[in-house]
Amino acid sequence: MVSSAAAGAFDERVAARQAKLGIVGLGYAGLPLAMLFAEVGFDVTGIDLDESRVRAVSEGRSYLVDVSAERYDGVDGRLRATTDYGRVAELDAVTICVPTPLSKTRTPDISYVVAAAEAVARHLRDGQLVVLQSTTYPGTTEDIVLPILERSGREVGVDFFLGYAPERVDPGNKDWSIRNTPKLVAGVTDECRRRTEALYRPIVETIVPVSSPAVAETAKLHENTFRAVNIALANELALMCDRLGISVWEVIEAAKTKPFAFLAHYPGPGLGGDCIPVVPHFLAWRLREYGYSAQLIDAAHEVNAHMPVYVVQKIADALNDSGKPIKGSRLLLLGVAYKADVHDTRESPSLEVMRRLLERSGEVRYCDPWVPDLELGDVRHESVPWGRDAVTWADCVVLLTPHRAFVDSAVWEAAKLVVDTRNVVPPGPNVHSI
Ligand SMILES: NC(=O)c1ccc[n+]([C@@H]2O[C@H](COP(=O)([O-])OP(=O)(O)OC[C@H]3O[C@@H](n4cnc5c(N)ncnc54)[C@H](O)[C@@H]3O)[C@@H](O)[C@H]2O)c1
Repeated sequence: MVSSAAAGAFDERVAARQAKLGIVGLGYAGLPLAMLFAEVGFDVTGIDLDESRVRAVSEGRSYLVDVSAERYDGVDGRLRATTDYGRVAELDAVTICVPTPLSKTRTPDISYVVAAAEAVARHLRDGQLVVLQSTTYPGTTEDIVLPILERSGREVGVDFFLGYAPERVDPGNKDWSIRNTPKLVAGVTDECRRRTEALYRPIVETIVPVSSPAVAETAKLHENTFRAVNIALANELALMCDRLGISVWEVIEAAKTKPFAFLAHYPGPGLGGDCIPVVPHFLAWRLREYGYSAQLIDAAHEVNAHMPVYVVQKIADALNDSGKPIKGSRLLLLGVAYKADVHDTRESPSLEVMRRLLERSGEVRYCDPWVPDLELGDVRHESVPWGRDAVTWADCVVLLTPHRAFVDSAVWEAAKLVVDTRNVVPPGPNVHSI
């Protein structure tokens, strides 16, 4: 049993901003969290193995859309970064935000979580709170992380505390931030959950405690699966409307006038980002161990993964109507980031469209104000500037990511042929929508 004095002391240190906090993994999830803790007055140490990121944080340089360079000025040196796990020993609480990718065979790769937990375990000390925040399959906190930390000979809920609090951030979203997005928290014991709640209270308006880490892990997977399945439904509707010769966009606008029991989702060139395309498979993978096949998740994946193929077919058909093949045609792809107004190209369906067009010997250029260059295979490509010159060069312009820069632009009049996968280009006889 943990004494009430010790529990109270932790809460008081957090409430007085005296607790020293650590964030392991300074990426899209970890850095905004570290910055917010520092902004409300905590002394924060970010630990990352990537020296360039550690240098950037130390020098106050921005590398993420959600953490501008100006925000470093506001924290007055309270946010520091290091590659040295030895600093864990100085901390009261450590939050782990390392990647949880999926292998090519759609198996969760939790090796980063294991490596981070092992490194934290080597420096664990009495009274510390460890919180896993990475997205992962149900059971990771209690079946994987807990035994690693227990190897220190300490007892959970007494000598150290372990919680799970999934990241729900939507990078680039101006309306919903860490602060106003309700935070799910769970603990291995009641005291673990209570301390995890105490940790997040200074930075989050609403905390939602749940009964176990597995519930919080599964809730996070369900949120992302909900989105993947609904996007697949919108994508399938696009494929069906194409056959019917009607506009999928008009159908969705009409359907969404129903004031209840409908939530509009929209089609596009496929699923992107490191969450929505990936996360549902964590659930499907875990459930296979229980002899359960998650059929809807697999079906959604099939539909979403087909969309880049469908877009390339649309481009081929549009070019064909003007007597041209893909081979040798000048193709301008607009947007390689996976969604509007972010730098992130992870899992971006634009890359799949680009790869397929290059395979078919199209002369491909891309324009993305957020992604100045990218590597595809072994070849480096540079973004061309957005404007009339880029558009008039192309035999076909393909709108893939609805960056604000591309919306409402007069430049569209100059395009010979357009394939619009996002319904942002003004309609015209030369504009083919999905
Ligand atoms: N990107 C998002 O929008 C988002 C949203 C919700 C949840 N998540 C989840 O958050 C977790 C982190 O994702 P991300 O997008 O921040 O990843 P990221 O790749 O942007 O950043 C992860 C960081 O962890 C570092 N790292 C890797 N192994 C490490 C180790 N052993 N020790 C210290 N640092 C290590 C990497 O160098 C990198 O800087 C994932 O589980 C992801 O699914 C991400």
